[in-house]
Amino acid sequence: MLHHIPLTTISTALPGILDSPLIQKSRDNTIICYDLDYLKERILYIQSLFPNALHALALKACPLPKVLKIVKSLGVGAEAATFPELYIAENCGFAPRKIVFDSPAKTTGELSYALDLGIHLNIDSFSEMNRIIDLLKNRSTRSRFGLRINPQIGQGKIAITSTTGDYSKFGVPIDEFCEEIRQAFYDYPWLTGVHLHIGSQGYPVDQLVQGVQKVYNFVEETNRWLAGKFTKNRIKIFDIGGGFPVTYHKDREPPSMELYRDQLRQKCPGLFTGKYRVITEFGRSVFTNAGWTASRVEYIKEYCNTITAVIHVGADLLMRRCYFPQDWHHDFSVLDSHGMIKKCHRLRKYNIVGPLCFSGDILARDIELPEINPGDYIIIHDTGGYTLSMWSRHLSRQIPVVIGYSDNGKKRQLLKRRETPEDLWHFWQ
Ligand SMILES: Cc1ncc(COP(=O)(O)O)c(C=O)c1O
Repeated sequence: MLHHIPLTTISTALPGILDSPLIQKSRDNTIICYDLDYLKERILYIQSLFPNALHALALKACPLPKVLKIVKSLGVGAEAATFPELYIAENCGFAPRKIVFDSPAKTTGELSYALDLGIHLNIDSFSEMNRIIDLLKNRSTRSRFGLRINPQIGQGKIAITSTTGDYSKFGVPIDEFCEEIRQAFYDYPWLTGVHLHIGSQGYPVDQLVQGVQKVYNFVEETNRWLAGKFTKNRIKIFDIGGGFPVTYHKDREPPSMELYRDQLRQKCPGLFTGKYRVITEFGRSVFTNAGWTASRVEYIKEYCNTITAVIHVGADLLMRRCYFPQDWHHDFSVLDSHGMIKKCHRLRKYNIVGPLCFSGDILARDIELPEINPGDYIIIHDTGGYTLSMWSRHLSRQIPVVIGYSDNGKKRQLLKRRETPEDLWHFWQ
């Protein structure tokens, strides 16, 4: 399995994209690209490791309808964490039974809508469960329900994306509410699933497995406890969430999803025997390495012993990188104005900065790259997930054009057109 799209592949695809009628070279100073073959391969790989699971891809990583429609044909589902994401999933044609709705703040209206459609609902809290109890009093539904459990196994390396500390704003903490959770499965026959999501990035495989195993042991015990009273396996659905990390460094070994599968199979065998209907919610590990961004160098500025290359994206596209550079990394490369690898091998140190008017809009400091000239393209690697989906409207920045390519760049398609100033005008009305 290829883990990074090599620069040689990018420089094969980019010239054709630059010359294609899909972009206007003068205006499209930034192009976000998806390698669609890579993306499909990635999904097939995940499906091969967890063949019987519903892979509800986390739309928060990549909500682009054209991308979602392409991957839908592989049989995946969609995880929606907000009502608009639910709307996107529905409009992309995902069947309700393949849509999973997670959010800690679902309103009564949103819950009713999801119940009418028969969407899988992961309940975040006992307060939300009480609302559902009320809603179910006067309607029948095809929805299935899971309860989100916080396995409380400690945080990962990145605090803001960790959700399994003793306190988390998500889910019901297992250690404190073990009895209440069990009682809920006793009391409500419609509650047939569990859900956990450990965090996004920053958790090693062992810790991911530890979280799933803790909930798995609890579920097995609860099912045994309930077996005397009801039919076997009251809890039938096991949603392990997403959170599988990727590497953003081309020279580092990526975390092994095969190892994750192997350890899960050893510690939670029932997830692989058909005993449970397994759901995953992978986002980052599906989309991130499938995308890259090319942004044209507008200016080179040299002073205070620093050479600064000014490009056309910054914290608008890579918010986490700019605000928390210690936690979030991207590799950068430089291609010439035609998208070709630069022949010059003299490396110099550069700061790569975005166009926004605040000083923290710096994507990279002191990185060594071949000599950069205005008109060259800075390639930001691994921008397929949690980048465009986190686009910031500060300074009324226009979302760049998004292009998908396949067959090593021989085939290209428009995934999203560049926004115009008029679009921004309407956005703020
Ligand atoms: C509930 C839930 N599921 C799935 C995901 C996707 O995680 P990842 O993209 O790391 O796989 C997230 C991300 O924060 C999440 O909160």
